[in-house]
Amino acid sequence: MERNPEPELLSRFHGHWPDSPFFIYDALAVAGKIAAFRGAFGPEARLRFSVKSNPNPGLLRWLAPRIDGFDVSSETELRLLRGLGFGDAPVSVSGPGKTDACLRAAAGFADVVVHVDSEDELAAMPPGVPVSLRIFSDDAFSAKLGFTREAYERALSAPPAPSAAPRPAFRGLHVYLGREGFSFARLQRAVDEMGALLRAAPGKFRPAPVLAIGPGLPARWDRWDGNRPPPFRLPGPCEFEIGRGLVGEAGMYATPVLARKSTDAGDDVVIVNGGLQHLGSPFVTAAQKLGDVRAWLFRGGERVRESGEKTFVVTGSLCLGHDILHPRLSLPESVRRDDWLVFPCAGAYGPTAGVPHFIGQDPAREFLAEGDRTEDVTVQDFRLYHECF
Ligand SMILES: Cc1ncc(COP(=O)(O)O)c(C=O)c1O
Repeated sequence: MERNPEPELLSRFHGHWPDSPFFIYDALAVAGKIAAFRGAFGPEARLRFSVKSNPNPGLLRWLAPRIDGFDVSSETELRLLRGLGFGDAPVSVSGPGKTDACLRAAAGFADVVVHVDSEDELAAMPPGVPVSLRIFSDDAFSAKLGFTREAYERALSAPPAPSAAPRPAFRGLHVYLGREGFSFARLQRAVDEMGALLRAAPGKFRPAPVLAIGPGLPARWDRWDGNRPPPFRLPGPCEFEIGRGLVGEAGMYATPVLARKSTDAGDDVVIVNGGLQHLGSPFVTAAQKLGDVRAWLFRGGERVRESGEKTFVVTGSLCLGHDILHPRLSLPESVRRDDWLVFPCAGAYGPTAGVPHFIGQDPAREFLAEGDRTEDVTVQDFRLYHECF
């Protein structure tokens, strides 16, 4: 049966909700995703959490002992991991643009691999840092990521510069599929393609070649289109970098309604306290399909259930196009100021991917719930620009 986080997560506030917008993450739902991952991909699969999808320190501390390492995209994320005491954790560095400072910071981690994205980046690598080659796959969504097949062949065959120490063997290959058009068949094809490339170049990858996959699993990958994932064939050790596929569904976002009104164009609009300040990507990113996005309406701490529903444009308080949380969300007809909207599937790309300084809307708080315990893990020094003077 599908797990419905609504009663369990919101009842823990005993009717006294925080008085400003908040996120709450369900640790047990994340644990369920971790178990689903281990079941679907088997013992060769290692789970790395994509830090950019939710770098909340409370969540990272909870995750660290339960996963096999982290994947980061910037020097800042590396500093965050070090600051949290995860300097010994296995770390991969992906992301298409890496600064020299990021590459230097990577060199300070004991168990690190950098997925290089271009020949320029390969040339800039500090010596001694294990490197894997990010390759472009026909099945990948974006043609901008990774080496073309020609660039890949050049990288494999390039003799080391005469004065430089011989380049060590590559650690493996990396591919990012992108979540757009995800299917398990595409994922398997990409894995098979990379396995074939590794086998075709014996000696170029050592010690044991590793595949790294940023598969862009959708939040609900474990029952995608109603299907359970098929058993996967992995050609060897495989590191999966997963963000939304781990925490997307485990988080809820709750925000008060500031106004309900109609426009001249005939739209019914709900304006909430927040919007792009709290969510880096609109909900469709987290839930994958617009039709999947739901919201519950609460009034005085009680869920409002009405037979009459209406379609609303739900927007943050900026009310511009890029601040629309949902263009046609079905809500109880009576929605009004001081009600709260609660969105499930909001655990990834939330407040720390948002635009916190703009306009000075209330910052969202963050809670981590596990069993009977609820911890306030709000990032306290995440101050508004306006408060810094
Ligand atoms: C290289 C890489 N790995 C992992 C991820 C995490 O993706 P997701 O949050 O869809 O799991 C991304 C997202 O863009 C990425 O670019």
